[in-house]
Amino acid sequence: MNSNLIYRILNKINHILTNFHIYKYLLIPRVQINKIFIDYKIRVQAIELRSLTNRYRMYQPIPFPEFSDIKESRNRGCASRWRVIKKCMDSDLNGLKIIDLGSAEGYFSFQLIKEGADVVAIEYDKRKINLMKLIKLRYNLQNMKILNGDLSKFSLLSLGKFDYCIYLNIHQHIYKRDVVSAVRILKELGQICKKGIFFETRPVRFHSYVEAMNPENPQPFIKIDQMLDVVKNGTGLLYSKELFYMEYNKEPMHTQSIPENTENIYRLFYLSRNEII
Ligand SMILES: C[S@@+](CC[C@H](N)C(=O)[O-])C[C@H]1O[C@@H](n2cnc3c(N)ncnc32)[C@H](O)[C@@H]1O
Repeated sequence: MNSNLIYRILNKINHILTNFHIYKYLLIPRVQINKIFIDYKIRVQAIELRSLTNRYRMYQPIPFPEFSDIKESRNRGCASRWRVIKKCMDSDLNGLKIIDLGSAEGYFSFQLIKEGADVVAIEYDKRKINLMKLIKLRYNLQNMKILNGDLSKFSLLSLGKFDYCIYLNIHQHIYKRDVVSAVRILKELGQICKKGIFFETRPVRFHSYVEAMNPENPQPFIKIDQMLDVVKNGTGLLYSKELFYMEYNKEPMHTQSIPENTENIYRLFYLSRNEII
């Protein structure tokens, strides 16, 4: 049976049980039943994302044991990336403010919340937003703000200052659609960020329509160093440390021995205003 139909039937049952106060006579507490419903909704939403074949497919796993059986569509080394990011942050994240731009399903945001940080996650895909909101509800995560929006269209300055910014695998996507916004986002990131920015990308060769949009600088990101320089100069955070690399569709590696002449790799950097020891 279609999972949406099952969901609608379960919702109806929940509605009847609630309206006729039948929960009072059941031995299972209402809260428990609600949890079952939310879990079901989370699974339906995750199945929908997993069934997609386009770029909106499930990018990250859900970092809670109840959902550890739901796998992301392609290994993007989330657990490894989280390990290196966490190691680079303050040891106590309690009360720190962190923003996660293009958060996808919220893997990093949820990990940070578990460490006690206050997190703002921004994402424009509504299905990912729905999933994040359900997980927030399921675990009663008060210190998480989830914003549905296009980064090209809103000002980060209105959100206040953040200790750390997470900006992973998104800059090149914004750049190819809207160079002006991509440049503005970097500038604003520099203004809102107090300690450092985690930045991940891979070299990209843009289509001819992007080239035509930027005749003066048609292919700015063929080499990773080019992109890193743009991000450093744009944000004003001039010191960087490489944390991690991952070859396309291969297992993640910690940065030490990047294979020669390999450019199709994701690389994760920590950028800071001060020299990094
Ligand atoms: C390649 S995924 C990277 C996800 C995550 N940052 C990571 O590295 O695991 C890019 C994410 O950014 C979102 N995204 C792309 N452009 C965006 C925009 N202009 N505003 C907000 N989110 C955007 C996409 O929907 C997608 O979830």
